[in-house]
Amino acid sequence: MYVCLCNGYRDEEIREVAESGVRCAREAYLTLGNGPCCGTCLDCAQEIVDNVHTPAAAKTRPQPELAPEAAEALLMAAE
Ligand code: FES
Repeated sequence: MYVCLCNGYRDEEIREVAESGVRCAREAYLTLGNGPCCGTCLDCAQEIVDNVHTPAAAKTRPQPELAPEAAEALLMAAE
């Protein structure tokens, strides 16, 4: 899928650059050849980059809901 219409960058290209260690969409674009133009695609590109660097377990692990009392206790402990 095309992510950046200004530069013609596809999601798989951005993902490959991210897999090489790049953590920022702008840096990924520069690695591919050109920086962003209009910038409307950067949020989507950053999401692709972030997904590459998010551990697989964190993506699939359900987030437990805290009971209101537990959440309040955590907030008080943090203060
Ligand atoms: S669509 Fe990517 S910079 Fe414009």
